[in-house]
Amino acid sequence: MTIRDWAEPYKIKMVELIKMTSREDRLNAIREAGYNTFLLRSEDVYIDLLTDSGTGAMSDRQWAGLMMGDEAYAGSRNFYDLRDTVEEYYSYKYTVPCHQGRGAENILSQCLIKEGDFVPGNMYFTTTRLHQELAGGTFIDVIIDEAHDAESEHPFKGDVDISKLDALVDEVGADKIPYVCIATCVNMAGGQPISLANLKLVRQWCDQHDILLVHDMTRVAENAHFIQQREEGYRDTSVKDIVYEICALTDAATMSAKKDAMVNIGGFLAMNDAKFYEQACALVVVYEGLHTYGGMAGRDMQALAIGITESVQDDHIHARVGQVQYLGRRLRESGIPIVNPIGGHAVFLNATKMLPHIEQDHFPAQALAAALYVESGVRSMERGIVSAGRNKETGENYKPNLELVRLTIPRRVYTQAHMDVVVGAVQEVMERRDEVKGLRFTYEPEVLRFFQARFEQID
Ligand code: F0G
Repeated sequence: MTIRDWAEPYKIKMVELIKMTSREDRLNAIREAGYNTFLLRSEDVYIDLLTDSGTGAMSDRQWAGLMMGDEAYAGSRNFYDLRDTVEEYYSYKYTVPCHQGRGAENILSQCLIKEGDFVPGNMYFTTTRLHQELAGGTFIDVIIDEAHDAESEHPFKGDVDISKLDALVDEVGADKIPYVCIATCVNMAGGQPISLANLKLVRQWCDQHDILLVHDMTRVAENAHFIQQREEGYRDTSVKDIVYEICALTDAATMSAKKDAMVNIGGFLAMNDAKFYEQACALVVVYEGLHTYGGMAGRDMQALAIGITESVQDDHIHARVGQVQYLGRRLRESGIPIVNPIGGHAVFLNATKMLPHIEQDHFPAQALAAALYVESGVRSMERGIVSAGRNKETGENYKPNLELVRLTIPRRVYTQAHMDVVVGAVQEVMERRDEVKGLRFTYEPEVLRFFQARFEQID
């Protein structure tokens, strides 16, 4: 790949100044934050790779869309624009706006899951699994084994192992499975795509057992890019058409629009079934707002509708994923252990390999994220045992095979020079890795503990 293959299809009209801090400032800041990068102030961060969620740069067209907000309580023009755009680009007939992805997950889970149900999915996501559990369900991982292996070069690590679905239905019966939840570009696996061939098999399986297929479409455009590049027969199909084809294979979707669709806040639940829509409308008024705005301002719905159209453009997505691939390749070339293949939204450092002297119970990925911040002011996120949390029945820590630090690239925000700085920073931590110490909890929240947990170093 040459730079011409992924050079940005935009130019910069406005900039935001960022500051470089001293090592001493950063040491103080991370101690104050209890070694949790979620608890740092963004002012103390130089390059912020915590997340790609809500951190993208909107286009001038999206900003213009904000000015077209129709802030009526009911029946806003922007809602109808959003609904029509969702149907045109994503195929789903009905749209229920929500304040963000987890708002949609709550309504979906409350509508479809009964106490004692099982929800299979291609790897867990933190908020998704929690809402399934709060509704009385149990998440069952049905992703292929390769997804749990950071070294495997499988091109579609988001694929489902159909034999795991068969085993589940044999064990609990189809009545106990309200839906199968499929994420595109699986976040916790390292931003890994599912193939269309596999998704078609899942569709067939769901039809056979009369089970719904729900799509976590948070990063569907990035997944479509990988299908175009890797799956036979799609080289000449546009990302826009592949996105539509993926969505059309599924019955309903939850969307965190803060990622692919490049808005700072927003999301939706979408579906084709009128009865399900009616049920979701009845709940959205309880948790979010009236069904024609859910959790969103009119102006935000307009910016989202425009963001959707921009997100599926081939040149946009090639530049977006191209930048992530550039960072990953440079890290790999300098001998840093990362998850392969390189993902769509982030590069995942393999903390198990980078810090072999820290056992998993002492949170190597959490310690690595803190060390990277101290070294360079680059903020990243733990995606390992802290994020995985505890089994709600046994109270034991889940022990994921993947103990990772995520360097997540916001869309249209940072430059190639920033990526080069990140490579240098990770190399410096690698050189001084023996100095990095394990951590223990000083405060552990009961749910979604990674957001607010605090730690101290073990000497
Ligand atoms: N599904 C996936 C695959 C996600 O990555 C996220 C959020 C959600 C659902 C929930 O959406 O944040 O809008 O409520 N992921 C962010 C991240 C937080 O940093 O990966 P939300």
